[in-house]
Amino acid sequence: MDVARSRADNEIRQYLMLIGDTWVEAQDGRRFDSVNPFTGKVWASAPLAGPADVRAAVTAAERALDSPWGRMSASQRGALIRRFADLIAGHADELAVLETTDNGKVLRETRAQLAGLPATYHYFAGAADKIHGHTIPAPQTNFFTYTQPRPVGVVGAILPWNSPLFLLASKLAPALAAGCTFVAKPAEQTPASTLAFARLALEAGLPPGVFNVVTGAGETGAALARDPGVAKVSFTGSTATGVQVMKSAADHIAAVTMELGGKSPNIVFADADVEAAANGVIAGIFAATGQTCIAGSRLLVAEEIHDELVERVAARARTIRLGDPLALDTEMGPIAFAEQLDKVRSYVDLGLDEGARLVCGGTRPDRDGLRDGYFFEPTVLTGVHNDMRVAREEIFGPVLSVIPFRDEDDAVRIGNDTSYGLAAGVWTRDVQRAHRVAQRLNAGTIWVNSYRTLAYNVPYGGFGSSGIGRENGAEGLREYLQTKSVWIELTGQSRDPFTLG
Ligand code: NAI
Ligand code: MG
Repeated sequence: MDVARSRADNEIRQYLMLIGDTWVEAQDGRRFDSVNPFTGKVWASAPLAGPADVRAAVTAAERALDSPWGRMSASQRGALIRRFADLIAGHADELAVLETTDNGKVLRETRAQLAGLPATYHYFAGAADKIHGHTIPAPQTNFFTYTQPRPVGVVGAILPWNSPLFLLASKLAPALAAGCTFVAKPAEQTPASTLAFARLALEAGLPPGVFNVVTGAGETGAALARDPGVAKVSFTGSTATGVQVMKSAADHIAAVTMELGGKSPNIVFADADVEAAANGVIAGIFAATGQTCIAGSRLLVAEEIHDELVERVAARARTIRLGDPLALDTEMGPIAFAEQLDKVRSYVDLGLDEGARLVCGGTRPDRDGLRDGYFFEPTVLTGVHNDMRVAREEIFGPVLSVIPFRDEDDAVRIGNDTSYGLAAGVWTRDVQRAHRVAQRLNAGTIWVNSYRTLAYNVPYGGFGSSGIGRENGAEGLREYLQTKSVWIELTGQSRDPFTLG
């Protein structure tokens, strides 16, 4: 059966889930709709997986650990991942269109993300046969002792709607390289691309059950996190949901990787190249309509250049082209779904109530072509204090809070005054200051004179309530391995059974 079929009457694409090598409906036949945020209309639907469906997927993944997948050499695993990467490359454009249709992120970004995915899979494919242990000179000289990294087992991955396949890659590629099997639960707003992608996994020859997809909302994710067959829960999403997921994982001693929210400071010193900084500020908060965990949502700016920088940022913000996210000249698409639009709007109202000033944006655009979609104007708030809620809570939309600072100590203090710690930007021409500030900021990623740059081989993750664990690079691979130590007795001599030897 194909992954999706269209209902002739209204052209809504009916997706199915992948469990083992079978495309299935939910056992109780329930489905849910996915809305295109540009048109405001339902365009696809997917099965609403219940606990029994999740159990079936985890069972398929457990069996696959013991299948040819579990017995094949690391080189063979790497070869399969490479074949998968090549298929992804061949389908990147169509997957990008699916994602943009589902979440409204502009095609120029989803295309770039999807075109970059094969490199992630190739990187981890190459890592598969470089996973090895150590021999250890234990103090007991009658032993030969070595370690062996082993796959953690079945991975349950729960994903958000902002970059479905890009975020999946940082989990799936290392998990496969490590020899794990996988059950993915994409967000209820964006089920389509992950299901279309799953077809490529089968085509590449990954044995049945190595990669499974169950679709549904929070209940489905919760069932996955608490399934005792899941050895590792890898989550990307909000901090509040991350807390729930960790609690479920704790009940059955599952390991976790948590990629959570942020309230990242983008810090511009008076000695910065102001034009470059303004550009980086725009990239940090308005790219992807601000719906990224790394959004530079707090602009910390030196008092001396406050007005100049705000004016430049606002001038560019007013000319950002909103429109059809599938059109390649569109710069900002709609917000991904109606509730998220309401959340963004209410935060702007809250900021104004708290005493912030609106420099631009703050409303939905009332223009032809934009009325059906969940659009919101690029918004700049000044006069923000770091203790206001718009400076402390993740808005996840195109809303910039501008906070002035006096000097370097002040900038670092405000930058670090957050429960989060995902990323930070530092704009300065002073190389000593750049290093000083980069060292003092508490965040998992620091960009100097840049913002929003990531790569498959550079570790990524959060300090504080932004997360636990790292994705990408060698550290990202370790998240999917556990160490076995093997002791081989060499002499055959018996020993006193009542002492530890
Ligand atoms: P969410 O964190 O609730 O959803 C992420 C994933 O978790 C989805 O697949 C969802 O179905 C699943 N989920 C929800 N409740 C669950 C539960 N109890 N157990 C297991 N899985 C569960 O985020 P949501 O509701 O989509 O967005 C709310 C806010 O979260 C956003 O406004 C934004 O502030 C933040 N967010 C942050 C992201 C990031 O990358 N840091 C990504 C998405 C949202
Ligand atoms: Mg959708």
